[in-house]
Amino acid sequence: MNRVLSFDHVSGILTCQAGCVLENLSSYLEERDYIMPLDLGAKGSCHIGGNVATNAGGLRLLRYGSLRGTVLGLEVVLADGKILNCLATLRKDNTGYDLKQLFIGSEGTLGVITAVSILCPRKPRAVNVAFLGCSTFQQLLETFQRCRGMLGEILSAFEFLDSACMRLLEKHLKLVNPITESPFYIVIETAGSNAAHDEEKLHSFLEEVMESSLVTDGTVATEEAKIKALWALRERVTEALTHDGYTYKYDISLPVEKIYQLVTDMREHLGDRAKNVVGYGHVGDGNLHLNITSPAKDPALLAAIEPYVYEWTAACRGSISAEHGLGLKKKNYIHFSKAPEAVALMGDIKSMLDPRGILNPYKTLPDSLH
Ligand code: LAC
Ligand code: ZN
Repeated sequence: MNRVLSFDHVSGILTCQAGCVLENLSSYLEERDYIMPLDLGAKGSCHIGGNVATNAGGLRLLRYGSLRGTVLGLEVVLADGKILNCLATLRKDNTGYDLKQLFIGSEGTLGVITAVSILCPRKPRAVNVAFLGCSTFQQLLETFQRCRGMLGEILSAFEFLDSACMRLLEKHLKLVNPITESPFYIVIETAGSNAAHDEEKLHSFLEEVMESSLVTDGTVATEEAKIKALWALRERVTEALTHDGYTYKYDISLPVEKIYQLVTDMREHLGDRAKNVVGYGHVGDGNLHLNITSPAKDPALLAAIEPYVYEWTAACRGSISAEHGLGLKKKNYIHFSKAPEAVALMGDIKSMLDPRGILNPYKTLPDSLH
């Protein structure tokens, strides 16, 4: 199930089978002057069907929006074996309920996605990546504000990692920090249609943030090898963590000005019970990845983390799963982010579409509904 079924050069709409690997789709499109609207560190192994089933966010959501906007159609096999053909290739279709949305992000619990049609952007002619250092998270946020104002329509990503992540990249993956050591690091990507225009904008932005001391040091890349090397510092954090021990992972949505406070509070709360407490993620989307490592699986540590992390998130009206889904580990904490009536309605939909509970059983829905 890894074939491209069609590609329309005028509209940029791609239709493919669910087993296509994301990176292969990206290469297919780049040869045709287009790109995929999503990009993530796991691109070399993840399948587009899984990306859609989990509503994966990734590194370009800030620019191109979520799959709920870019996926135009789906083919899905239902629990009773019927094939639901909603493989539309239209930007607009208001003929009643938008059924494909039920399957996007439902983690395979309502049907099995077998094909996808997706709206793809044109390949940008100029891409620049800047890797910057900041002394405080407040300065990082101020840099984000200025960046949105000054880079506007060419901004395609604004990501961050903290110094604890950088230490793990250096220690476990032998990556090299290209700038002076700082408490926080930012990856900014611009993608536009005119290299000279984009570089001019980027340089006046960099001048401003350096002069006003928001940013302490930085480096810029325009050629592909260096762009890849800078992106690796953000994309490979997850991989570095796997070498640091057992990792407790949290994927939290919060109002953007609060995202790092959770890391600071968690560090203080856990003291020396954790090996490392690190924060990284998608600043532009208000999405924090809070990861806590330990030499081995540690039930006492877990009891110190949960439900603390969920209560903290709920107090800010955040989401306990921004982009990774609930799966097995988070399903019973759904109430921290969803009203009881909404959870009950999820149960009704599950019973209607999968009355015998054969689709990805025991996932996503809390035990009380199984
Ligand atoms: C990332 C994955 C963990 O953003 O979602 O690196
Ligand atoms: Zn992420």
